[in-house]
Amino acid sequence: MPRYTDDSKERVRDAVDMIDLVGTRVELRRAGADSYTGRCPFHDERTPSFNVTPSKKMYYCFGCQASGDPFTFAMETEGFDFPGALEMLAERYNVTLELAEEDPRAAARRTHEARLQALLERTCGYYERYLWESTEAARARDYLAGRGLEEAVLRAFRVGYAPSAWDRVLLASRRGGFSEQELLEAGLVQRSIDQPGRVYDRFRTRITFPLCDRRGRVVGFGARAMRAEDPAKYVNSSESPIFRKREHLFGVHLAQSAAAQAGAVVLCEGYTDVIAMHQAGVENCVGSMGTALTAEQVGVLARLAPRLILALDADGAGQAAMLKSAALVQAKRIELRVVPLPAGSDPADVLKREGAAALPALVKRAVAFVRFRVERILAGGDRGTPEGRDRILEQLRPVFAELGPGAMREELEREVSSQLGVSERTVEQVLGAGGARQAAAGVSAPALDAGERTEFAFLELCIALPERGSALLGEIAIDAMFANQLTRTAAERLRASIESPAVHADESALRTLLTKLAVIASTLEAMPGQLEVAVRQLDLARIERAIEGVRAGGGAGVEQLGHERAEVQAELAEWLVRALEETAATAR
Ligand code: UTP
Ligand code: MN
Repeated sequence: MPRYTDDSKERVRDAVDMIDLVGTRVELRRAGADSYTGRCPFHDERTPSFNVTPSKKMYYCFGCQASGDPFTFAMETEGFDFPGALEMLAERYNVTLELAEEDPRAAARRTHEARLQALLERTCGYYERYLWESTEAARARDYLAGRGLEEAVLRAFRVGYAPSAWDRVLLASRRGGFSEQELLEAGLVQRSIDQPGRVYDRFRTRITFPLCDRRGRVVGFGARAMRAEDPAKYVNSSESPIFRKREHLFGVHLAQSAAAQAGAVVLCEGYTDVIAMHQAGVENCVGSMGTALTAEQVGVLARLAPRLILALDADGAGQAAMLKSAALVQAKRIELRVVPLPAGSDPADVLKREGAAALPALVKRAVAFVRFRVERILAGGDRGTPEGRDRILEQLRPVFAELGPGAMREELEREVSSQLGVSERTVEQVLGAGGARQAAAGVSAPALDAGERTEFAFLELCIALPERGSALLGEIAIDAMFANQLTRTAAERLRASIESPAVHADESALRTLLTKLAVIASTLEAMPGQLEVAVRQLDLARIERAIEGVRAGGGAGVEQLGHERAEVQAELAEWLVRALEETAATAR
């Protein structure tokens, strides 16, 4: 990667016409002497909150807090890395870039990384040749063929074979002038435990899958055992200066242009799944490396395409991982769909069993994430008894709580009603929208649908995290924070005792609510950051109500409340990021 002078970068910045650049993506309107607004390209919105300041060459979104300069704009909207963005902008605005004389430390680091990369590259070539040419690898070739994987696609992915000997890579690399230290850092050899001071090849008797960066450079390997009894099915490269597992997506170099063209990227779990998909013509497919998605991977995915299609195992642990991934993905405003995989099988199994044509057909049947969740809950519950049907409705509640009004909601409500044999009216009432409408028309305090949800979510999290929950309930002004009378009473009782809140005999609605909250709390995998987010959302709802109230009464004092709102919004944004990181960290 070439390095350019800082001066080059500043000359490019000076040359950029910010309105022209942003204008390729956003319809901008003049809003002031040095200010333009439009609809934010980084989140979905109807009213413009995206602002550009041409003189400063900066943008800022009041809605999602996205901000940056011409370089970040090109990186975020076009998927460039920094040098790529610099080169693109230099060309567009006619600036000649100058190569930098690097500071010696950075130059040394780059040389070092280039050597590690060269070492991995030649090792990859060695494994490839070994797979296709050696007698030892005949079993591996048969094995791959037996799984229905064709030579052409295996070659495109540069799949190889690591021989059984302990020192092939070690010896060949030494002869090639690489040091033991470099081999260790590249993750190709490891230290012997029995014989201190000795190192030996890390990958042996395994099919090797090179892990490549976006430019197709080998940065590590995943390697599959041939025998089922091998305790480690896969051995992967360790982290290195050039391999960062948290941001790695398998096959990204082969998928990125297809993903950009299709406007969608398909995500599988395993190496063989991705290869199977490519063989079947689904070339916009990448692999998650088996783990639940990290925030870093979601960042990379967001740059590949605006729609993400999950083709992950949805059973048991897989589903929990999927929910966590979904939270990360939805925070990035990526549209999420799910491929209905046959139970217990992954795409590579489908390829072997049903042939290549089955895979694109499956991908075409991907459904919206919310529909997927609803259908699974419907399929998993006991519909035979009224109690069973109520439990199903209870499980559906949180799913519908996240779903705004609209065609999708209506369609799913109809489906729930017909599948459970419960009237649409009941379904609507239980699942939210109807309930809220009724409250608005009824005697109790009019509660907004969204506001009510915020209040519930906060209390659920308080119960799930009782220590911090009690503390927060003790601190906040409950009367002001809760608009809904019933929820407010629940909060008061929980403040007095979070473990066993008092309920009087004639308070059946309160009893039901507290039971529901406790049941939902027990199913949450709550994390501290989520509670901090929830309390700020609650506070924000309070401020919004106060602003509405003041406006209705003539408007004095709105400004002060506006400041307060901005402060809470900023805190909320910070906590959202932390909560996401927290989720990502535990999802691994
Ligand atoms: P799976 O166990 O589902 O394997 O792990 P797979 O991909 O279906 O493998 P095949 O089809 O039997 O060959 C999914 C992914 O999780 C990672 C790998 O990336 C694997 O492809 N993984 C799995 C590991 O890194 N280490 C392991 O021990 C297991
Ligand atoms: Mn598999």
